[in-house]
Amino acid sequence: VTTDTWLLTEDRHVPDVAGWKEAIFTIANGYLSTRGTFEERRAGELRCTFINGLFVEPPGEIELLGAVPDWTGLSLTVDGEPFDLDRRPPAGYRRTLDLRSGLLTRTVLWRGAETGTVKLTFSRLLSMARPNLAALHLTVEALTDTVTLDVETGLDATVGSPATPVWTPAGVEQPSPTLLTAGYRSVDGRHTLEVAMRMDGLGDAKAITEPDHPRLRATVTVPAGERLELTKYVAYRPDRGPIHPMDLPPEGSFSSVVGSSRTAWSERWRGSGVTIDGDAEAELALHFAAFQLIGAAPPTDTGAGIGARLMSGFGYRHHVFWDTDIFITPYFTLTQPDLSRTHLAYRFRGLDGARRKAARFGRKGAFWAWESAATGDDVTPEWSKPVFGPPVRIWTGQLQEHITADVAWAADHYWRWTGDDRFMADEGLAITLEGARYWVSRVEEGSGGLHIRDVIGPDEYHIHVDDNFYTNAMAAWQLRRAVELAHWAASADGAPRLEELGFTAGEVAGFAALADRIHLHSRRDGVWEQHDGFFGLAEIDLAAWEPRVRAIYDLLGEERLQHTAVIKQADVVMAMALIPEHARTAVTGAANWDYYAPKTDHGSSLSLALHARVAARLGRTEEAYELFGRAVAIDLADSMGNGRDGIHAATQGGLLLAAIEGFAGLGLGEDGPTTDPRLPEPWRSIGFTVQHRGTTHEMEVTR
Ligand code: BGC
Repeated sequence: VTTDTWLLTEDRHVPDVAGWKEAIFTIANGYLSTRGTFEERRAGELRCTFINGLFVEPPGEIELLGAVPDWTGLSLTVDGEPFDLDRRPPAGYRRTLDLRSGLLTRTVLWRGAETGTVKLTFSRLLSMARPNLAALHLTVEALTDTVTLDVETGLDATVGSPATPVWTPAGVEQPSPTLLTAGYRSVDGRHTLEVAMRMDGLGDAKAITEPDHPRLRATVTVPAGERLELTKYVAYRPDRGPIHPMDLPPEGSFSSVVGSSRTAWSERWRGSGVTIDGDAEAELALHFAAFQLIGAAPPTDTGAGIGARLMSGFGYRHHVFWDTDIFITPYFTLTQPDLSRTHLAYRFRGLDGARRKAARFGRKGAFWAWESAATGDDVTPEWSKPVFGPPVRIWTGQLQEHITADVAWAADHYWRWTGDDRFMADEGLAITLEGARYWVSRVEEGSGGLHIRDVIGPDEYHIHVDDNFYTNAMAAWQLRRAVELAHWAASADGAPRLEELGFTAGEVAGFAALADRIHLHSRRDGVWEQHDGFFGLAEIDLAAWEPRVRAIYDLLGEERLQHTAVIKQADVVMAMALIPEHARTAVTGAANWDYYAPKTDHGSSLSLALHARVAARLGRTEEAYELFGRAVAIDLADSMGNGRDGIHAATQGGLLLAAIEGFAGLGLGEDGPTTDPRLPEPWRSIGFTVQHRGTTHEMEVTR
């Protein structure tokens, strides 16, 4: 079997796993995103199209990315029998997502109880060339007998959010028989939205102008041996007044709409394609990863961020976490820095919110939101409602403080690779200094130096801990980096003076001494203690809990976990990956790995790909490759069982970084990009493109 590494395919419709498949067959163009639900309705589906950055705060709800009225819905009966694959399974089925163009195609061979056999081909696309344009094409071939079809399709605002309606209809018009326009206002009054749709090929359609579900309906007969072709175009226009339906593409243009999207995608692919000689499965996984990340990344600053589940479901309400700074932005920085720049602009705009958050806790500087939406204000929920048991208090919004250093780290990484001094002067410097000032107001004097007490590190299994290694190490890094950047700014053209940013030279000069005194504790063999008391926790043998599909958190419970040396995800190991000095020598790197890797539950989707990257750097390529495969399985085999909520954004970024930085060993030397390959057994070579200071480097890394 040969794998086409540009096609994500599915050869069977399996109702039990359809929710997860909806997520991975998401199509997106950076602005719009549509989950891979079928055109016809299914029980239990999560139908949604999102516009990047269009956050809504329904009354009594936390701010969320509200789905816009659906454009994909199309109901069909064949000789009176509803076309429904759950009621009557198909005689043939194939779905493919072409990652080169973003075209999603589903071909179904189907026969009703008393009908002839029909072949249906649904193709849909969100144009990469025209971001607000959605297009759907349907071909129905009557293979054996003449069939009569009832077709109904429109704009559906009754689907939108699993919890609550998001849009209130504000009027429907039908400027011509095949055209409908609909206006909406978001329930919080923040946004208006205009949508236009046109349906070609339907002939004499009847309009049903229900305000929340305007649609066209027609009955069409397809003679035996002939075919019907329908094309639907939909354009969205938020917050900018009336839409002009005449701007929709002309009739008969579906293939040129696909063509121009493919051309626009090929521009993106020029910088982001990865080839792996010897491993088509991995190559496909990396194409999928890049496709989905690019699809969720706004190419220009539209006020949007990249959510933890991209725009492929309702998971985490599309809130932005450290996932974007540490797992996604660094990948974009290496391959298409404009997409990083947009995220960093989003972070910079969040500075005021971060200042407000620091002030709320009686501290100085800026404390970034653990979860953010339209602004920099923290929108982390305070309670979670598990399926079983009472509500659980969520402390991350208050205690997961490392986010502040993560934002600065992403900015610094971007600057080092791009040399974008303008960004550093205008935005990065303030981000770094304000965060450093936060740490100064946060540290507490105590025995053995300065402490950061009562936090949550990346390992969220242990809450209210003191001196979390990752947090302390990153805070110290940020304080030192702030000093270096202030030095740079003093002589850089056009950089602001410290006073303009509200700092004095004396304040900044003090940062370095503080950084040196932040408490980091290690054993004699160089193993860092993850947090105060970690070395005294009860050890358990995780292997004895296999076979296991649930996280150890669910099985041990939060209380018992506090006393157990099992961690959710990389913490010390994560710090070593971001700040190599902490690995001191190869021996300490390995000692920490050997201590922490067996204690890691991978209860977070961030963990496996990061472990793969670090294992590769340690030269443990076999283990790294195994971890890489398990990380691929998170979305492409739903191995965590929560794929229905959406694609795991950080896993996808993590995989690309594992390939490029882990296996190929990409680094930044004095003269530009360097490599240090540790390729796994099946890989003969890996090829990718890297941007460094405006120069494109085509990399081909062999064993
Ligand atoms: C992880 C966090 C992550 C969040 C969003 C949590 O389960 O532990 O590290 O930021 O999910 O992906």
